[in-house]
Amino acid sequence: MSDLLERRARTHMCGALRAEHVDQTVVLKGWVKSHRDKGGVVFMDLRDREGYAQVVVEHSDDPAILRKAAELRPEWVVGVVGRVRSRGDQRNTELATGEVEVVAEEIEVFNKAKTPPFEVKDDVDTFEDKRLTHRYLDLRRPVLQRNLMLRSRLTQLARESLDAQGFVELETPFMVKYTPGGARNFLVPSRLNPGSFYALAESPQLFKQLFMIAGYDRYFQVTRCFRDEDFRQDRQPEFTQIDVELSFGREAEVKTVMERVVRHMFAGALQVELPDPFPQMRYEEAMARFGSDKPDVRFGLEHVDVSGQVRAHEGGGHPLFQKTMAEGGMVKLLVVPADHKLSRKDVDGLEKEAKNLGATGLGRARIGAEGGWTQSPFAKSLNPACQRAISKAARAAEGDLLLMQFGPARKVHVVLHQLRMLLGRKLDLIPEDRFAPLWVTEFPLFEEDEDTGQFVAAHHPFTSPRSEDVDRLATDPGACRARAYDLVLNGFEVAGGSVRIHDPEVQSKVFDALSMGPEEQREKFGFLLDALAYGAPPHAGIAAGLDRLAMIATGAGSLRDVIPFPKTSRGLDLMSGAPTPVSEKQLNDLALKGS
Ligand code: AMO
Repeated sequence: MSDLLERRARTHMCGALRAEHVDQTVVLKGWVKSHRDKGGVVFMDLRDREGYAQVVVEHSDDPAILRKAAELRPEWVVGVVGRVRSRGDQRNTELATGEVEVVAEEIEVFNKAKTPPFEVKDDVDTFEDKRLTHRYLDLRRPVLQRNLMLRSRLTQLARESLDAQGFVELETPFMVKYTPGGARNFLVPSRLNPGSFYALAESPQLFKQLFMIAGYDRYFQVTRCFRDEDFRQDRQPEFTQIDVELSFGREAEVKTVMERVVRHMFAGALQVELPDPFPQMRYEEAMARFGSDKPDVRFGLEHVDVSGQVRAHEGGGHPLFQKTMAEGGMVKLLVVPADHKLSRKDVDGLEKEAKNLGATGLGRARIGAEGGWTQSPFAKSLNPACQRAISKAARAAEGDLLLMQFGPARKVHVVLHQLRMLLGRKLDLIPEDRFAPLWVTEFPLFEEDEDTGQFVAAHHPFTSPRSEDVDRLATDPGACRARAYDLVLNGFEVAGGSVRIHDPEVQSKVFDALSMGPEEQREKFGFLLDALAYGAPPHAGIAAGLDRLAMIATGAGSLRDVIPFPKTSRGLDLMSGAPTPVSEKQLNDLALKGS
């Protein structure tokens, strides 16, 4: 058993030392960050999760300590007893502990370390795969430690706010009944019921509704959800929701609850005051102005829909515009003001990006005198009156650049939304230190599945239609709007929820619109339909993505920088090697292979 460990408790965290500690004897415990032997004096930076402090070992009455210090290597785990002294003129103003250093009187090595495969520092120059393989070392990097500590703070603040708002924290099962539709589930075979499977819960949705039916009034849970989805920068197969449901709650109340939570998180963890209340925008407006239901409203460069002008000029004599109009498509554009001076090469680069997103090309035109177009393949083929009408509608001035997309609305929006984001970054239009929350409301209730042409629930099938749309469920489902709302922050969907259906009849009508016959309804959701018939209160809820909130709050570039042990884009845990094949015997035990 190590002597120092037993004998002396730590007095300070390394990162906490300040000028006020001068002349105190301190006991520090941590990792050797770096180490310089200057012949007769050894300088060592000692690191713990709060930061690092400089330790000096000078020639003293005890030559053994100098010998011991000279042997130290990065990532060794040591304890130091020493006196704090001022660094005087030598102070390091960049470092929180830079005014002082600790003159070591005793050093004990608790553990040695192999030379790490990469240096444990913020701006490490190594492949992410290598970092993920040695995640325990990666997690030692100060930037990740700060991220995870901020995440912890955010979690505590969310709990604090919900507790203060009268919510009870209740758990729901992870192993649940498999119901197709919605996100793809991970399946867990049941050994005791050969051939049967549990699904890992994609969210606590149905259970939280059951809590309302059971009279718990206000529920919350900080819980893991599991979805076997394709990965993106803002998606992981295991992620954490701050999940909320309340009885007798109207849409406005749910929003107020979640706003309070998010405001409390940002004020407490970042000292950032978010607006009160958060601004709101209808889905239709978001699509029209930004081509996205999660617009980043920190900058302009809004979409301009010139379909009306093109239609009024019967396509302006241009076959592509004529075709677009005939097929019911749209023409939209972005105006890049002249002072941004995008070169032809820049625009060629943007066109390449647009093609990667599925566009056939990127229409472009520079505005000349009187609104006519130059530097454009359209300059000659589109009639001048149509050119001028479009320029006028776009309020474009001489020298401005128009970037256009035309075709089916869905495609135009995907491409132009991404293009706007790309340009926002490229032209430095996005104030990175701002947080711009926005409610997006009045979503459509159903979306058409591109492959099957069938309606699927846009949020989930338990979302209530607006009361004025209930009668249209059977006749015109595409026109029904949902009592659903998303919270968007800086262009990411950070929360989503809805008012639920509490009337079993309406629930059945929604299932009908989803082409789910009575038998299928019973088989999949019988327990919910039964429960709804036993006095279900009106209820509503929402779930926020904790990982996404933490990613935005920390300014991290990916969810992987705020999740301690994330998966790669192929769903792998590079450190443990999961997923792995299992033995024939295990497969047999689980009845996954006929023996
Ligand atoms: P939804 O599916 O919109 O709603 O999820 C709620 C929030 O969870 C986050 N999120 C994710 N974060 C990381 N990785 C993922 N794969 C991922 N998927 C979703 C998002 C999202 O806004 N039961 C409903 C909520 C409700 O209606 O109350 C639900 O799960 O931030």
